[in-house]
Amino acid sequence: MTALFDSYTLKGVTLRNRIAVPPMCQYSAEDGLLNDWHRVHLAGLARGGSGVVIVEATAVAPEGRITPGCLGLWNDAQAQAFAPVVAAIKAAGAVPGIQIAHAGRKASANRPWEGDDHIADDARGWQTLAPSAIPFGANLPKVPKAMTLDDIARVRQDFVAAAKRALDAGFEWLELHFAHGYLAQSFFSTHSNQRDDAYGGSLENRSRFLLETLAAVREVWPEHLPLTARFGVIEYDGRDEQTLAESIELAQNFKRGGLDMLSVSIGFSTPNAAIPWAPAFLAPVAERVRRESGLPVSSAWGIDTPALAQQVVAAEQLDLVMVGRAQLADPHWPYYAAKKLGLERPSWTLPAPYAHWLERYAVG
Ligand SMILES: Cc1cc2nc3c(=O)[nH]c(=O)nc-3n(C[C@H](O)[C@H](O)[C@H](O)COP(=O)(O)O)c2cc1C
Repeated sequence: MTALFDSYTLKGVTLRNRIAVPPMCQYSAEDGLLNDWHRVHLAGLARGGSGVVIVEATAVAPEGRITPGCLGLWNDAQAQAFAPVVAAIKAAGAVPGIQIAHAGRKASANRPWEGDDHIADDARGWQTLAPSAIPFGANLPKVPKAMTLDDIARVRQDFVAAAKRALDAGFEWLELHFAHGYLAQSFFSTHSNQRDDAYGGSLENRSRFLLETLAAVREVWPEHLPLTARFGVIEYDGRDEQTLAESIELAQNFKRGGLDMLSVSIGFSTPNAAIPWAPAFLAPVAERVRRESGLPVSSAWGIDTPALAQQVVAAEQLDLVMVGRAQLADPHWPYYAAKKLGLERPSWTLPAPYAHWLERYAVG
């Protein structure tokens, strides 16, 4: 039986356990450039003991940022700034990963704690892009520009250029952000895609942008390093069986296209979804995708107790467990989990300057 603290090998990379830090935007960059906040945040999480630390959604182009505070990889200075962060993650024993992203019609927003809504056009906002000129709605009412074929080709190349920069910076795990109602997801979803050309309409056409982007990135991302994607397989919009069936077909095509793992998530393509929030509620969905697509899967959403995390791995629902907010609350969550699960010698999840004191002179 597989256990949470078993190592995990994907392609040429081995993780020390099945716990991942999922990408989590910090909205704290300027001009897409990281700073001390990101350095401390990411090194701290890596020291906590997870197998892989995936850097937040990092925009492949300036207009692809969710907010003005999002990280970017559209120039070499941004890539170079990542090198010491990558080194710190590796020195802590974790695999350095990064998610590259384009926010599409959800871009040009204020930071969550500053409203989470679209920035007014007369302020620092920018023109958003999407398959069709359909706004998301609710707090994001801005009408995006419907992308031309040239726009589509340019953004695909932006993903390729960002992937190359991620490689140059030393990342060993690349995740394509195809989820959460951002650009790629919005090509797949009929909530946002009503094109009548080769990129809209049929499932094959709605999959095209995602599969072409994967293929283009696969050409520049080395075969021995994991290439993964995060994708919203379900919307909770009342059409779930149909969406899931289409998503599984897409996942099978991802596999044929050289994807190594799918991070199973939610579509977030409409403000009118009824999401059944509950602990580990997405794990059975991820298991179905895993079984029917043949791809290894990771997932997140409310898997925040050691028992639950252990359970979804042991039941072979997930290959990797993404523990997000619980690791923000406690960057040493893996250590805590190892203790809770009764591991004999969990101190290997702690750096020596902490382990000596916590193991020998344990408090509490
Ligand atoms: C502060 C914060 C920022 C996030 N940023 C991203 C992101 O950059 N990319 C992404 O795919 N998901 C993002 N998410 C979603 C998380 O990766 C994760 O799926 C979510 O927090 C649910 O997992 P949890 O219940 O363990 O927190 C973010 C979540 C939080 C809390």
